[in-house]
Amino acid sequence: MFQFILNGSPVSVEVEGDTPLLWVLRDNLGMTGTKFGCGVASCGACTVHVNGIATRTCVLPVEDVEGLSVTTMEGLANGETLHKVQQAWIKHQVPQCGYCQSGQVMAAAALLNSNSNPSDAEIDAHMTNVCRCGTYQRIRAAIHSAAQA
Ligand code: FES
Ligand code: FES
Repeated sequence: MFQFILNGSPVSVEVEGDTPLLWVLRDNLGMTGTKFGCGVASCGACTVHVNGIATRTCVLPVEDVEGLSVTTMEGLANGETLHKVQQAWIKHQVPQCGYCQSGQVMAAAALLNSNSNPSDAEIDAHMTNVCRCGTYQRIRAAIHSAAQA
């Protein structure tokens, strides 16, 4: 059994320790906002926060988050109040198909936690998540907007 904090509440799961956190979140805990893309830590669709750090969960064994704090897209808002990144995403109409966007939002929120006013170059360096719809310009604009919020 493995235990960690998920979106502020303790959870425990009976799985093999090498089970990727992505599948524990989706299949065992019902947090389907976190998506599967490449499965090899390249695309970022599976990004969540582990102790506040943007982390790709498709290659992260659940045993590695024992006792740690995991935040998914479902836990990013504060009750009815959306996170400033979510608000900026709506303002700038960032998503197209939407598939990559949960990971994008989580990566952006983590960036602003560590750098409250990132430059374009810093955004580009941090935001390595892939978007097949090409929303990169809107992502950059929304991050600047959230930084000013
Ligand atoms: S599914 Fe994890 S990085 Fe692509
Ligand atoms: S919005 Fe479609 S892949 Fe990013």
